[in-house]
Amino acid sequence: PDALDLRRAVCAWFEESARDLPWRDPAAGAWAVLVSEVMLQQTPVVRVEPIWREWMHRWPDPRALASASTAEVLQAWRGLGYPRRALRLRECAVVIRDHHGGRVPSEEAHLRALPGIGEYTAAAVRSFAFTAHAVVLDTNVRRVLGRVVGGEALPPPTLTRAERERAASLLPREPGQAARWNVAVMELGALICTARSPLCQDCPVARHCRWRAEGYPPDAHAARRR
Ligand code: ADE
Repeated sequence: PDALDLRRAVCAWFEESARDLPWRDPAAGAWAVLVSEVMLQQTPVVRVEPIWREWMHRWPDPRALASASTAEVLQAWRGLGYPRRALRLRECAVVIRDHHGGRVPSEEAHLRALPGIGEYTAAAVRSFAFTAHAVVLDTNVRRVLGRVVGGEALPPPTLTRAERERAASLLPREPGQAARWNVAVMELGALICTARSPLCQDCPVARHCRWRAEGYPPDAHAARRR
């Protein structure tokens, strides 16, 4: 499909249908984005939202979290699961306080050096908080692009170079547009192009979708999944 048509259709759908999530507020700031992305790594949006609000109220910046006790941090994390993330997030806050003047760094290498921050989370923070030209490839985005452009039911078990190149070729050049596109594709994957029961009748890009055009071939990687 034509990249421009695809982007226009997905972004127009996003303006109308996206969830109003507080960390997507352009004024939220990099710390708010970083906290949300760490929470969202392994926890659904509905459970994250109220806890994120309390967390940001209590520890509105990295310096505040850096001085919190282990007990306080674990208590506030309750309900999100995988509590080691809470301690790593506090370690992030300590590093940001001690090495970055209390402000979330925008450079990829500095973000990747923070505890618990991998390729996806660093890209998300750079794109959403710093309007960087960064490809954001979470499982939702990988599934949408794999279907629409690649004609595959589900993406391969591990991220491939072909996926990175495909995503990079679709990323708008204008920095502000890249963030909108990234979050819009992610939302399409979360709400419409779901893993098990995609709602193609409501999909803004059904007419561009290669997987649909080819008659929904089954998952080619099923044998390699655990
Ligand atoms: N908006 C920005 N990042 C998100 C994520 N990881 N999950 C859901 N919504 C988001």
